Amino acid sequence: RVAADLAGRHVVVSAGGTREPLDPVRFLGNRSSGKQGYALARTAVARGARVTLVAANTELPDPAGADVVRVTTAHQMREAVLKAAADADAVVMAAAVADFRPAHYAEGKIKKKDGEEPAPLELVRNPDILAELSADRPHPGQVVAGFAAETDDVLANGRAKLARKECDLLVVNEVGERKAFGSEENEAVILGADGEETPVPYGPKEALADVVWDRVARRL
Ligand code: PMT
Repeated sequence: RVAADLAGRHVVVSAGGTREPLDPVRFLGNRSSGKQGYALARTAVARGARVTLVAANTELPDPAGADVVRVTTAHQMREAVLKAAADADAVVMAAAVADFRPAHYAEGKIKKKDGEEPAPLELVRNPDILAELSADRPHPGQVVAGFAAETDDVLANGRAKLARKECDLLVVNEVGERKAFGSEENEAVILGADGEETPVPYGPKEALADVVWDRVARRL
């Protein structure tokens, strides 16, 4: 497929999973490999777009032709995505961003003390990048899309999330220990703020990525 329907467009894609440090050796993280976001970046390059890929903690080869910005935490991802989004026609958030981070960072490795119970882990909220992107668009025509990773009541939760985050498109995928995270395949339903719902059957992550770009391109 070589439709150049994204030629002349700048798109921003986020991929991977953020890590929120507890101390110099530990973090809170998630199972995202970045494969879905990288597939979005590769397919957007193939369709002619200028692509900025904001990648969190991935071990995948840089997609040829994309500008790759590497980040670790949700805060760093927010900064990099907002900067790249300033002149972007579309932003697709495929990254798994931590909703919470440890309230305190220990400068030295946290030690276990003999006979003492572990201290409870205090968490604070991270910024919601997708909601912020949707609310503060640099120009009204910018298309903002997110992914929703759900384990139960997948569609109902996805629809509620679309309304809450006020993005244009939300790609709802069911996730589990071996589902979506890390695998080569995915299946999803793409929800539109206009009420349109597009089911995408189980198949390569590139195939889902192409349907996402079809939906994005129609809104540009
Ligand atoms: O990377 P892979 O191994 O290929 O796996 C792909 C995937 C399962 C990670 C991907 O398909 C996916 O579902 N990505 C979104 C994961 C996620 O964080 O979902 P969520 O339902 O928690 O968040 C909803 C949306 O809000 C996402 O677009 C997320 O990027 C965004 N978000 C979430 C929290 C936050 N603080 N800021 C955000 O912008």
